[in-house]
Amino acid sequence: MNNRIFITGTDTNVGKTYVAVELLQYLARRGFSTIGLKPVATGCQRQATELYNSDALALQQHATEPLPYERVNPIAFVEPVAPHIAAQKQNKSLDTDFILQTCSPALNHPADIVVIEGAGGWYLPLNHQQTMAEVVVQWQASVILTVGMRLGCLNHALLTCRAIRQSGVPLLGWIANCIDEQMPYLTENIATLRAMMDCAYLGLIPYNQSARFDDRLDTILKRNGNVCHQ
Ligand SMILES: Nc1ncnc2c1ncn2[C@@H]1O[C@H](COP(=O)(O)OP(=O)(O)OP(=O)(O)O)[C@@H](O)[C@H]1O
Ligand SMILES: [Mg+2]
Repeated sequence: MNNRIFITGTDTNVGKTYVAVELLQYLARRGFSTIGLKPVATGCQRQATELYNSDALALQQHATEPLPYERVNPIAFVEPVAPHIAAQKQNKSLDTDFILQTCSPALNHPADIVVIEGAGGWYLPLNHQQTMAEVVVQWQASVILTVGMRLGCLNHALLTCRAIRQSGVPLLGWIANCIDEQMPYLTENIATLRAMMDCAYLGLIPYNQSARFDDRLDTILKRNGNVCHQ
């Protein structure tokens, strides 16, 4: 079985893709083979008969293993709306079994680590009963929480951390991603979260810069069995 890292976030548009790309580059520098996976994407562009999503293209491009697009992003919708609503508008439906089934080719492809980007936040609905969190539990993926550093993120980060813990999956830690160049008291906000989050701080991504991952990320990856050959 591949080692799976699921990148979730405090909201949509908080930098999950930015973090996933930084992580793929970091893992590649350390000699790991990687796969990127975006199980469900909305806001896709149509080219000829196929749909493409910019997040999935970025993951595909920065993974070390070349996988066909439809394996990187098996479920795609044009409308930039909640996935279960996009599905419903096309007389389709989403559920955990469908996602497990459509993602299994990518997850079973040989690679050291699969970096999976969620859509929206931790409790992304798949229908009126199920959320993406249940799929992550089935995968037994380890989770990294992207905190988009902006006003309101403290509450979102604490709630999301608690919800992930409640799901019982391994939570590797959280990353402070600076999406607001002008955020007042950024340092104080990060200090608050470092004190209050019930998970490890994995580092900072300054605005428009590369990640400054904490050295602990290596240790944490090793502890979680994600480091296979180093
Ligand atoms: N550290 C950063 N510095 C500068 N811009 C950033 C940073 N992180 C994210 N952004 C920008 O913020 C926007 C949202 O980031 P991104 O697309 O990675 O978020 P997301 O959580 O993956 O969104 P979605 O929910 O749509 O998948 C993008 O325009 C991205 O380039
Ligand atoms: Mg994204």
